[in-house]
Amino acid sequence: MNNAIKDTIKKLASNNGQTVINIRRYLHAHPELSFQELNTAKFVAKTLRSFNIDVQEGIAETGLTALIKGKNPEKKVVALRADMDALPIQETKETPYKSKIAGVMHACGHDAHTASLIGTAKILHALKDQFEGTIKLIFQPGEEKSPGGASLMIQEGVLENPKPISILGQHVTSFLPTGKVTFVKGRCLASSDEIYVTVKGKGGHAASPHLTIDPIVIASHIIVALQQITSRNRSPIIPSVLSFGKIISQGASNIIPDEVKIVGTFRTMDEPWRKEAQQKMKHMAQGIAKAMGGDCTFIVNKGYPHLENHLALTQRAKQAAIAFLGKENVVELPISMGTEDFAYYAQKIEACFYRLGTRNEAKGITSYAHTSTFDIDEDALVLGSSLMAWLALNERVTPS
Ligand code: NI
Repeated sequence: MNNAIKDTIKKLASNNGQTVINIRRYLHAHPELSFQELNTAKFVAKTLRSFNIDVQEGIAETGLTALIKGKNPEKKVVALRADMDALPIQETKETPYKSKIAGVMHACGHDAHTASLIGTAKILHALKDQFEGTIKLIFQPGEEKSPGGASLMIQEGVLENPKPISILGQHVTSFLPTGKVTFVKGRCLASSDEIYVTVKGKGGHAASPHLTIDPIVIASHIIVALQQITSRNRSPIIPSVLSFGKIISQGASNIIPDEVKIVGTFRTMDEPWRKEAQQKMKHMAQGIAKAMGGDCTFIVNKGYPHLENHLALTQRAKQAAIAFLGKENVVELPISMGTEDFAYYAQKIEACFYRLGTRNEAKGITSYAHTSTFDIDEDALVLGSSLMAWLALNERVTPS
């Protein structure tokens, strides 16, 4: 990619800066929960059409796609993805663009992803005579809620007609200041499964434990023993986490209850190990319960798979980002045990998911995602939209 295109992209992005901020503010003030993004989808479609970009609506109900065709549009197709849903959180920070919907808030920056991708679309549309192939924009519902909008859009054919060879996605992060980005090659985010264990015993008077089968003691053994699955049965090179966040039982100081419910999450970055670990945990929990005279059910609610960034694509994207931003602004962050339904695209085609810094200490923008005071530094939106346009053009959609 040549420097002239780089400068043109930067100029277009800065000219569009206020438009993208206004789009983000509208979306932020009008958040919608997962799979309810009706108004958001309409707004995105209307905005893209106002730029003369073709839109296809109603994919997985509230998802949409748009195509920006360069020369020889059938030649190569690259997809760009943004998620559109908000979270059930009451926003507490006072801003002119504060959420107008009680109990619903863009607390994960998906408003910024959507606004940014609209900005990217505007840039690429202006440059459509300068590249070959097609850019497919994917505006996706329901990232925050299982089974994930990505999996539903894939089922409805979003990766066909035309079929992209690769996909890029970005996520804002409060761990990095505005102006910086990070790329992780290979294992990037974790799979996430919910675990529900119900331990059954036999309740009774706490003064006569010999007449009961104490599910509290059984559950305690299970909680401690299951940690061995992640510490003793797993290869040390595979990140793995088992955390229990909820223990419920209806006993009292003098009552041994009939049952105990334990709820947790199991996260890892290796699909065979994910399956194996779940089986081992189930056997261990049921074996302990049985050995102690009780019983237990072990249910796994499968969440998203782990996200594997394609090695070569991520390396190319990282190099392109360095050329666009300078080496000092493309930094390293440790892998995270967070989860993302972008992982479903990565199971189908070459994928790269990177992070965009949106922290600004001077402006007091430091809250982390999924909190009621979360916000982004809007100055990051120019980079958000321009970098993605640059990466898309760099990704084998060569100028002719
Ligand atoms: Ni998110």
